[in-house]
Amino acid sequence: MVDVVSMSKALTFVTSNRHKFKEAERIAKEHGVKLRWRNISYAEIQSDNLADIARVGSQLAAMFIRAPCFVEDAGLFIEALRGFPGPYSAYVFKTIGNDGILRLMEGVDNRAAEFRSVVGYCESFSNSPKIFEGRAKGTIALEVRGKGGFGYDPIFLPHGGDGRTFAEMSTDEKNELSHRGEAIRKLVKWYVEVKEGEGIK
Ligand code: IMP
Repeated sequence: MVDVVSMSKALTFVTSNRHKFKEAERIAKEHGVKLRWRNISYAEIQSDNLADIARVGSQLAAMFIRAPCFVEDAGLFIEALRGFPGPYSAYVFKTIGNDGILRLMEGVDNRAAEFRSVVGYCESFSNSPKIFEGRAKGTIALEVRGKGGFGYDPIFLPHGGDGRTFAEMSTDEKNELSHRGEAIRKLVKWYVEVKEGEGIK
């Protein structure tokens, strides 16, 4: 049950992706936390490691907005392509897109893939960030399907689903099964516990 007092807890999500904000906002609300959106881009380091990207990103974001906040970095890891595009998912999406991935997967039987999400929460530049991770296992579809979501959603069939791609699901349905849903739920649960422990209302 969400009451007015607990809704006064607020977290800030720094992202220029409105889809990510919408997904996170639904989860935060379920836990009585209000999510504020700072729609800005922050500098992202190049790394093979999503956690490093989120760690440094959250420090830069906290320094930039001068307030505690979190950022999130995600990637699609395709088994038959040895984890490609992984940390380079944004560049690959911009350049070859879903059609390009489907072409790379033509004639490939092993369609196993995994989305990974890493959230970095940071109070200030001098604080070490807290990291929360989520994963969603699934397969790469044979064709693009669905109009919802964003990015690789139309080609990703999550395990535990009913044969629909993420792009064919509602935000709540995607959140139940997704990498970001898992990572954001971990963040929000931790935040509620810590803030309650600190007696902040
Ligand atoms: P980033 O986390 O914004 O750097 O995302 C890297 C790339 O993966 C971008 O091209 C996104 O569109 C894509 N991506 C990230 N999260 C998701 C998701 O939940 N579904 C589909 N594509 C995603």
